Amino acid sequence: MRPELEIVEDKAALIVRAADWIEALLRSEVNAEHEFSIALAGGSTPGPVYAELAARHRAKPLPWNRVALYFGDERAVGPDDPDSNYREARQTLIDPVGIGNFAAVHRMHGEAPDLEAEAERYAALLPARFDLIILGVGEDGHTASLFPGQASISEEDRSVLAVIGPKPPPKRITLAPAVLRAAHRILVLGSGAGKAEALARAMDDLGDSMSTPVRLARPVEDGQTRHWILDEPAAERLPQS
Ligand code: 6PG
Repeated sequence: MRPELEIVEDKAALIVRAADWIEALLRSEVNAEHEFSIALAGGSTPGPVYAELAARHRAKPLPWNRVALYFGDERAVGPDDPDSNYREARQTLIDPVGIGNFAAVHRMHGEAPDLEAEAERYAALLPARFDLIILGVGEDGHTASLFPGQASISEEDRSVLAVIGPKPPPKRITLAPAVLRAAHRILVLGSGAGKAEALARAMDDLGDSMSTPVRLARPVEDGQTRHWILDEPAAERLPQS
C-alpha cells in the first residue's frame, strides 16, 4: 500500500501545505470527547511549519486545549540545548501559543542519565494509538531516530527505544516501529534533493524498512492515513506511476 503523495514546488510551499493539512485536521477532528495526541517531528524541516501553525492560531484559535503533544524522538541533550527537538518546538509553537498553559506537553527527557529508563518512562505515557505522528526523513532514509541497519527497526515489543545513531548527536530516544505502524495518521515532510534517493526507495513497491526506515510510515492496513508532502527536489527520483 502506497501513501498519499503530495508534491509541491519548494520548501516554502511545503511549509504552507503542511500547516494547511495540520490546521484542517485539527479543526475537523479535534473535539471535546477525545484528547487528540500528536507526536512532533524533530530536525530542521518542521520548525517553520510549527511557526506557521502558531501564526494560524493567532489569526483564528486552534483547539490546542484538546491536544496532547509528544515527540517522535529526542537527542540526549537538555531542553535548552540547541540540538533539542523540544527546544525547537517550544520556540516555534509551544511558547508562542502558550500550549503548556492548557494542554499536556510530554517532553522526552534527553538529559536523563539513564536513557533506557527514560524510554520506559516515556512509553508508559503514550496513547494506545497516536492520532497524528509528524515525521521527517533523513538522506539515508531514517525517520525519527530509526536508522538503517539498526536493531531498532526489528523491535516488535517495546514502544520507545534508546538508540545510538549516525546522525549527531548520536545518543537518542525514539518512538519504535510498532508505534508508527499503529498510528491513525502519519504526515511525512521531505524537502531537498538530498532526500530524493531515500524517498525513491521509500516509494518503491518493493523494499524493506531495515534499509529505508521511513517505509515504516507507509500504510499497513486500510483506514490509516499516511500523507507525504515532498517538494520537487525531494521527489525528483520517485518512480513514475
Ligand atoms: C532528528 C529528526 C530526524 C529528522 C531527519 C530530517 O531528531 O534528527 O527526528 O529524523 O526528521 O533527520 O531532518 P531535517 O528535517 O533537518 O532534514
